[in-house]
Amino acid sequence: MSEKIDELKQTFQEDMDKAQNTEDLENIRVKYLGKKGTITELLKGMRNMQGDERKEAGKRINLLKAQVSESIQERGKQIQKEMEKRLLMADRRVDISLPAGNNIGSLHPITIVQRELEEIFSSMGFAVEDYNEVVTEYQNFEAVNVPKNHPARDMQDTYYLDNGELLKTQTSAAQNYILRKYGAPCRAIFPGRCFRNEALDASHENTFFQMEGMMVDKDISVANLIYFMETMLSEVFQTDITVRLRPGFFPFTEPSFELDIHCPFCGGKGCATCKHGGWIELCPCGMIHPNVLKMGGVDPDKYTGFAFGLGLTRLAMMKFDINDIRVLNSGNLKALDQFTIL
Ligand code: DAH
Repeated sequence: MSEKIDELKQTFQEDMDKAQNTEDLENIRVKYLGKKGTITELLKGMRNMQGDERKEAGKRINLLKAQVSESIQERGKQIQKEMEKRLLMADRRVDISLPAGNNIGSLHPITIVQRELEEIFSSMGFAVEDYNEVVTEYQNFEAVNVPKNHPARDMQDTYYLDNGELLKTQTSAAQNYILRKYGAPCRAIFPGRCFRNEALDASHENTFFQMEGMMVDKDISVANLIYFMETMLSEVFQTDITVRLRPGFFPFTEPSFELDIHCPFCGGKGCATCKHGGWIELCPCGMIHPNVLKMGGVDPDKYTGFAFGLGLTRLAMMKFDINDIRVLNSGNLKALDQFTIL
């Protein structure tokens, strides 16, 4: 009997060593513990035994049965764990059927320039604000001194919602909100997506980005405006930038200016970017109109301020030498991937 048991133990161990999965284990269980299994047969064989021999055999066979069934259970748990681990690994497995390449994505050129500007202005103490794309007529026009029927509205036709609200045509639509939020003194920039009803061509899109900025405090003058614009633009173009102001007109600034920069690409000699004039028209700006301050809850007798509306889209085009504005909204990865800065 003990020989038989030893033999059985050995073959069981060999079978177990070969077991790879739950199916193998189940076969082993049947082989040893099933109705016709070897251990079951041993137990049946006890029928022919008597007295002490029977007692002793019973003990040993039952012990063997317990050991075998425990081993099978333990190995079962182990196999289960291994399978879970393999499944997890499979999740992270490299799919070699995918096309080769460095597909980690890239930032959109406008995002790159926007982040750069945000960093520069933040370092000069400006808050960075976000604002809705759907705004009321009051915010987009009245609050920036463009009353109903003012001719300046003609140039900013946009998309109206059934409830009378509209897609903002200019980041200036947030001026009133910023003034009310911060009061005076305040320094803030607020980049945003703007919309206009435009006939599309290489330089006109119905959806584009601007970055508006405002600084309000006691004794703010045009000199402050020039200083901030020169500092910011020198950072953006990584070279000393000279600006000049020409008179302009905007209902929300008085006086209003068109700010030009001395062309950083040709040093003013004349090139395609500056259309051979040596100067690039870049940023409309001016001293905030007293009506705008008043509507924003700021006393124009105590405070003055400047505002500017930088064409973020134009700036990105210039910086990255993109000559068709439609590329920017195209979602064409081949065109947009090239500007990756990580
Ligand atoms: N909102 C104007 C536009 O879209 C740009 C502008 C001009 C903004 C002068 C300003 C400003 O803040 O002072 O045409």
